[in-house]
Amino acid sequence: MKKSLKVSLLAILTLTVAACATTAVQLSTLREQSVSSADSAPNEKAYVGKRPGQQALIARTFEKQPPLVPHTVDGYNIFPGDNSCLDCHISDEFKGKKMPKMGASHFLKTTQAGAEPVVDMQRWQCDSCHVAQVDAKPLVDNDFQGLASKPN
Ligand code: HEC
Ligand code: HEC
Repeated sequence: MKKSLKVSLLAILTLTVAACATTAVQLSTLREQSVSSADSAPNEKAYVGKRPGQQALIARTFEKQPPLVPHTVDGYNIFPGDNSCLDCHISDEFKGKKMPKMGASHFLKTTQAGAEPVVDMQRWQCDSCHVAQVDAKPLVDNDFQGLASKPN
């Protein structure tokens, strides 16, 4: 390659890099901070619901929706061998009080009559589908019209 050609290629490369640097788009982020700044933890919000047994169920807004959790989940932990949500939801009664029991879809099918119910491990992490509620402003606008909000 001729020396002059090398020089002009180098010049083009330098100009391109400089142009990219000056026209760099300022990214806007949902957390309203620069992309390179360290993430700060969001403010912790209190759950709207109180202890289980004190509130009505939340109406479902689409078919097959995992129902929303109306009560607080503070203190109810889900560990590999110990799931405190199951204390109440494995049956329709807990300490003499009526509970909403998990649907048949949450249990392994058994052919033995009277067998103890066995939770399907695909349903173990309840909060991957069932969400407890806080009073939070949505991060993005949403005009979803649920079944419950449709006029009859
Ligand atoms: C001490 C018993 C108890 C525990 C523990 C408990 N719940 Fe509940 N849950 C209830 C009761 C009672 C209701 C009915 C609404 C109310 O009174 O708050 C309910 C309602 C629900 C509902 C709504 C059901 C429907 O059909 O709309 C979901 C979903 C739910 N709980 C999920 C959970 C999850 C997930 C956990 C664990 C993080 C959990 N619950 C822990 C007692 C409990
Ligand atoms: C993969 C998603 C998923 C997971 C994980 C899951 N659920 Fe559900 N749940 C659903 C869906 C969808 C429904 C509504 C349809 C049904 O009953 O299958 C439901 C329904 C329920 C209901 C209401 C049942 C009724 O007939 O009204 C309760 C209570 C419940 N789940 C509790 C739990 C608990 C407790 C756990 C954890 C042990 C759990 N779920 C894990 C998706 C899930």
